[in-house]
Amino acid sequence: MKIAVLTSGGDAPGMNPAIRAVVRAAINSGHEIYGVMDGYAGLVSGSFEKMSRKSVSEILDKGGTILGTARLKEFNKPEVRQIAIHNLREEGIEALVVIGGDGTYRGAEALTEMGFPVIGLPGTIDNDLPCTDYTIGFHTALETIVDALDKIRDTSSSHQRCSIVETMGRHCGDLAVSAGLSCGAEFIITPEHPMNKEDIIERLKIHKSEGRRNAIIVITENVCNVHEFAEEITAKSGFACRATVLGYVQRGGSPCAEDRILAGRMGAYAIDLLSQGISGVAVGIQSNKMVHYPFSKVLASKTEPMDEIFELATKIR
Ligand code: F6P
Repeated sequence: MKIAVLTSGGDAPGMNPAIRAVVRAAINSGHEIYGVMDGYAGLVSGSFEKMSRKSVSEILDKGGTILGTARLKEFNKPEVRQIAIHNLREEGIEALVVIGGDGTYRGAEALTEMGFPVIGLPGTIDNDLPCTDYTIGFHTALETIVDALDKIRDTSSSHQRCSIVETMGRHCGDLAVSAGLSCGAEFIITPEHPMNKEDIIERLKIHKSEGRRNAIIVITENVCNVHEFAEEITAKSGFACRATVLGYVQRGGSPCAEDRILAGRMGAYAIDLLSQGISGVAVGIQSNKMVHYPFSKVLASKTEPMDEIFELATKIR
């Protein structure tokens, strides 16, 4: 079978190991494999490249994606997807593996509905996809955030400051909750676990009066303007407060072992599914087992918030 692979949406550490697994597993199972450049944009422009074992040599430890990625809004138009399917068929490609987040899955579901076989792998630091316990990239981004928080704690403590640190996650608090627990953050604020600003300021005042030298607030992006909140804390709590937005450092860097293993398992599983004639599904990991569900089910489901980790962070603070 001729199979193509692409990465789409925000890059995530572990995309390269996932591409490598798809390419090597496909070749080892007797398939031909093509790389598509820059996500769905490459399907539309017909940017395909035949891949060999060597094309994916020495990429296990590389951040980003060797195939490039993009967010293509126009892919929600049937006529644009029709061009993509035409280009795939012209090249003789019979199936596609896409690695990305929910936007990527929406494109994959639409291609499936138009009769083209697609398998999805969850590739995003946000861990915001349902039907999988973890997404490829989450654990590496978490390590990056933990490293940053430990460093910020050094400076906060030396200067007796409060630090508010904004993580990525879009509308999902998993990165903030997991990093907050790992670093003993005094406050964790996420879309699923919001907090009243006045309440935080009151608790910081108590903190100060108890002689505590610093406080860390970890907060998911899009919850509030962290720079304004830092000013408010400085004005009202007795702690000078600084805001740090971690930004793209969370998306880059060498994938950690956990992400490399996850990417390897998921990539090989995708090829097994295609070899068995199964498509139109997204791959996941649940209770350490590989699973797959139709895109329609995944896109209609909700993620489980990390309530237990959040509560644990409070209990052992
Ligand atoms: O989905 C990954 C992510 O980094 C989110 O955490 C963030 O909200 C978004 O992508 C940023 O998107 P862009 O790549 O357009 O800056």
